Amino acid sequence: MKLPSSIFCGVAIFVYPIAATKYNEYILAPTHRAVTPPILNAVYGPVENPDALLTDVHNSNGVVFGPNSSITLNFGSRFRHQHRWYSRLQSQWGICPYQCDSASSALYDSPLWFKVPTKGQYTAEKKRQRGGFRYMSIWHNGTGSVTVRDLHVNFTASPEVEDLRDYPGYINSDSEKLNRVWYAGAYTNQLCSMDPAYGNALGIPSTDWYYNATVGHGTSVLIDGAKRDRLVWPGDIAISGPSIFVSTNSLDGIRNGIDSLFALQAPDGRLPWAGTPFTSQDNFPFSFTYHLYTLLDLYYYHLYSGDLAYLQSYWSQYNVVEMWTIAMDGIKNAINEHLWDSTQNLFFDNDINKTKSSLRPQDGNSWAVIAGVVDRERAKYISTSLAGRWVRPYGAPAPEAGATISPFASGFEVQAHFLSGNPERAMELIEFMWADFMLDDPRLTNSSFIEGYSTNGDLHYAPYDNDARVSHAHGWATGPTSALTFFAAGLQLTSAVGKTWLVQPGLGSLRRVTAGFETSMGEFSASWSKD
Ligand SMILES: *[C@@H]1O[C@H](CO)[C@@H](O)[C@H](O)[C@H]1NC(C)=O
Ligand SMILES: *[C@@H]1O[C@H](CO)[C@@H](O)[C@H](O)[C@H]1NC(C)=O
Ligand SMILES: *[C@@H]1O[C@H](CO)[C@@H](O)[C@H](O)[C@H]1NC(C)=O
Ligand SMILES: *[C@@H]1O[C@H](CO)[C@@H](O)[C@H](O)[C@H]1NC(C)=O
Ligand SMILES: *[C@@H]1O[C@H](CO)[C@@H](O)[C@H](O)[C@H]1NC(C)=O
Ligand SMILES: *[C@@H]1O[C@H](CO)[C@@H](O)[C@H](O)[C@H]1NC(C)=O
Repeated sequence: MKLPSSIFCGVAIFVYPIAATKYNEYILAPTHRAVTPPILNAVYGPVENPDALLTDVHNSNGVVFGPNSSITLNFGSRFRHQHRWYSRLQSQWGICPYQCDSASSALYDSPLWFKVPTKGQYTAEKKRQRGGFRYMSIWHNGTGSVTVRDLHVNFTASPEVEDLRDYPGYINSDSEKLNRVWYAGAYTNQLCSMDPAYGNALGIPSTDWYYNATVGHGTSVLIDGAKRDRLVWPGDIAISGPSIFVSTNSLDGIRNGIDSLFALQAPDGRLPWAGTPFTSQDNFPFSFTYHLYTLLDLYYYHLYSGDLAYLQSYWSQYNVVEMWTIAMDGIKNAINEHLWDSTQNLFFDNDINKTKSSLRPQDGNSWAVIAGVVDRERAKYISTSLAGRWVRPYGAPAPEAGATISPFASGFEVQAHFLSGNPERAMELIEFMWADFMLDDPRLTNSSFIEGYSTNGDLHYAPYDNDARVSHAHGWATGPTSALTFFAAGLQLTSAVGKTWLVQPGLGSLRRVTAGFETSMGEFSASWSKD
């Protein structure tokens, strides 16, 4: 380990129990699962005491709804899980008291209707849980009046943990933006961990919608997005898994997700693009990259958990290619020889169409650095070229997905900047894309990260036919969380549970950073400051 002379280091590897959660003022998860709304957003029609249900008000007279009236409640900059009442929206976009933003290809989903014949407590069925939302409208569509005296939402995410704010991992630096991004990433992944019996049933109607497909086993499974898809996607876990490890270290959902993918493996070895019910024996859409991501997910799970017996249980299904090290060398040479574009210092995505306007993908170029396909010189060129394509103030583009900013592919780009020796570039991207835009843009949640958007800043994600469908809490957008711990604080495991480790900071523009995480070996932490 070679340190620049202006850095003082303090590295400690402890093997004793963890003290109380550090820096818990940044944690966005609620203290209790019964969550009440702090803010009233809108009132329509004849309503008395419209603020009676708010956290700090709790007026026991309740909200009195007259004929055809409604209120819209705002749960603040936090996504909540559900139980009770009507329509829900993730984003301020198109707030309306009468509909929910869609979780499918429809524009809107219907409200949940409760007949209220008598006084009592009314609770939505668990399969009607919305997964992620910020705004909730209550609409009384009848004549006469109805009084609502109490309302709360049951935060059902991360069912495997008792205390949602118990994070063994932490980070703190002199950049408030980076601190906030790290914790919002951790919280986003908490929202994307759910009871496996309440996944996406697919083809659900926009009227009478429900989520009751079993997508895995166990207490909790790591899915792609809180509202949608509520399915296991292996590519997403390659980002969310490491970010969970450095923060909550709640690994069960990763393991249950991996199980659900291997259970679907085809007889010829192919692994599914996504888990059940998206994939079944009769319907097996395939993606080469997502096949490989499942292998990577299992590698990460073993690295963080040290569970060798678990890895062994899949080894015969894992080792798919004979002579893979030789194949790897061949691929590396071929990529460098046939795909490099020396005019733009990026790789093409194929060796047939190599024209001026051809595609030089963000994901593939970032992966060329992460996977060690390139030498140091090419890694630096790639980092410079990717940064040269940034679209301020929105983010790093993914031309492979149209005029799109992909927080998923950009998570890999962040790693590529760190790994090519450009930590200041990685941090600049995290600050303007994840903090200034993805947290602070008023259309976004300021607490969880969106799935994708346009290079012009529209909250339109090219693969979807309607904008309401976009997930505003997507684990694949949490790449900075692990990257800041691994590469800025520089704390990395080089073998399972950290029996061997590497400490190699990349402070970039930071003056100080401290970070830590936990494995079954104990606590790992590093603190750095720069004069
Ligand atoms: C209820 O109020 C909404 C909004 O003011 C209005 O569009 C709708 O027509 C009303 N419905 C009835 C049945 O009055
Ligand atoms: C309120 O909506 C429900 C569900 O669509 C419907 O059955 C009922 O007739 C409506 N009530 C009025 C007064 O329109
Ligand atoms: C919240 O949901 C969990 C899991 O479904 C359930 O065990 C718990 O009783 C619910 N709590 C409340 C207050 O409804
Ligand atoms: C899911 O809910 C739908 C709608 O209520 C119901 O028809 C279906 O049988 C349920 N499926 C399971 C697996 O519970
Ligand atoms: C080559 O790639 C460019 C840019 O993606 C595209 O416009 C063009 O149609 C492609 N040409 C062929 C022959 O595929
Ligand atoms: C977002 O939340 C942070 C606290 O985490 C707050 O300081 C900031 O002002 C909020 N930004 C917006 C745009 O509301």
